[in-house]
Order: sequence, then C-alpha cells, then structure tokens
Amino acid sequence: MFLKFKKKNKEKPVAQRLINFPSEMFEAAGEQLQLRVATVSDIPGLVAIQEAVYNGYTPWVARDFYHELTQEKDRLYLVALRRDQVVAFIALVRRDLVTDLHIANIAVLPIWQGRQVGSYLLNTAKAVAREIGLPTLSLEARRSNTGALSLYDRHGFVVQDVITSYYIDNQEDAISMVLDLEH
Ligand SMILES: CC(C)(COP(=O)(O)OP(=O)(O)OC[C@H]1O[C@@H](n2cnc3c(N)ncnc32)[C@H](O)[C@@H]1OP(=O)(O)O)[C@@H](O)C(=O)NCCC(=O)NCCS
Repeated sequence: MFLKFKKKNKEKPVAQRLINFPSEMFEAAGEQLQLRVATVSDIPGLVAIQEAVYNGYTPWVARDFYHELTQEKDRLYLVALRRDQVVAFIALVRRDLVTDLHIANIAVLPIWQGRQVGSYLLNTAKAVAREIGLPTLSLEARRSNTGALSLYDRHGFVVQDVITSYYIDNQEDAISMVLDLEH
C-alpha cells in the first residue's frame, strides 16, 4: 500500500487551505532539524513513528494519513526531519463549527523524545493558531498518558472535560484540554 501511494501520488500536492507554511530549520539537542508541510511521500515515516511510540499499534494507518493529507479541508500536517528521516509530526485541524485549532495527533520518535521537539511543535501550533486568528488550541490525551498531560499543562493547557471510554481500543477515558491564546 505504501508503494502504491509513493508511486502514484508522490507529486500530489497537499491541500493546504489552513495557512501557507514555509519550511524552516530549528535546533534540538544541538542538531538541526527541518520543519515542513507533510506530503504523501512522508506517510511511511508517519506510520513508522506511530509504530515506534505505540509499541507496534498504529492508531492511524497509512490510509488515514493519506485521507488527511489529500482531502480538501482545513488541515496542516507538519513533519520534523533529521537528514530526510521523519522524526516527529503534528497534525492540526480546524474543525467545522468550532472556533479553535485542534491538535489531532502529535508524536516524536522515542530516541528524539525529551529534546524539546514536542515543545517546538506545540509552540508552532500556537503560532499557527494566532496567525489564522483562532483563539484557542485543543487536544485530547489518554488519561494514562501522564507524560504528555504534564507537558500540555506546562504549555498552559487546562483540562476542559473528561470523555468517558473515548478510545475504542481499550475504552480508556480521554482528557480534553484547551489552551486560551488570548489571555
Ligand atoms: C508527548 C510527546 C509528543 C512529547 O514530545 P517530546 O519531544 O518528548 O517533548 P519535549 O522534549 O518538548 O518535552 C518533554 C516532556 O514531555 C513529557 N514526556 C512525555 N512523554 C515523554 C517521553 N517518552 N520521554 C520524555 N518526555 C516525555 C515529559 O513531561 C517531559 O518533561 P521533561 O522535559 O521535564 O522531562 C512525545 O513524548 C511522544 O511522542 N510521546 C508518544 C506519543 C504521544 O503520547 N503523543 C501524545 C498524544 S496526546
């Protein structure tokens, strides 16, 4: 399936209505990483990160990423690369009828975790939301994901709700968090 995507759609542009995001370089743990908009040719790398961070389980499979990266809706998928390897990504979505920017997914390869890459992606999400005039950022995290929850807390997110049995794989609750960018 990956090969099919790569061969047929390698040059297919991503629908980018959210914002024009130019590629940029940033530093993490003394290394230079590139941050740019994801394309369908990044899908194997995106899936590989999911497998690495969730012990082989992939909440989003290749076709999910393909659908997200090619649909004509307000999406911004960014990938962080080290020497052409995708080491992290963040998925930003402006949902219909909701006035915030939603972080639908964020993950950093285990060997790159704890080096502020996730924080850089969160700060980028804040900048994007401000740029397009959305007053809040939102996300959901598993109740058991205490590391991520404390990271979001440090970034100013506050708990808004608990969604019971939100995750279908194990019926785990989701903690819904929101960051107010205006105060
Ligand atoms: C959550 C995640 C995106 C954070 O990215 P990161 O690059 O490690 O984050 P930063 O380096 O900017 O910040 C590190 C902080 O994140 C938290 N953290 C969460 N998981 C961590 C991990 N496996 N290793 C290190 N820190 C982790 C800690 O609170 C840590 O705090 P510290 O710096 O005081 O030790 C990343 O750990 C990850 O991909 N986890 C697996 C996927 C996931 O849970 N995604 C979030 C779904 S809601």
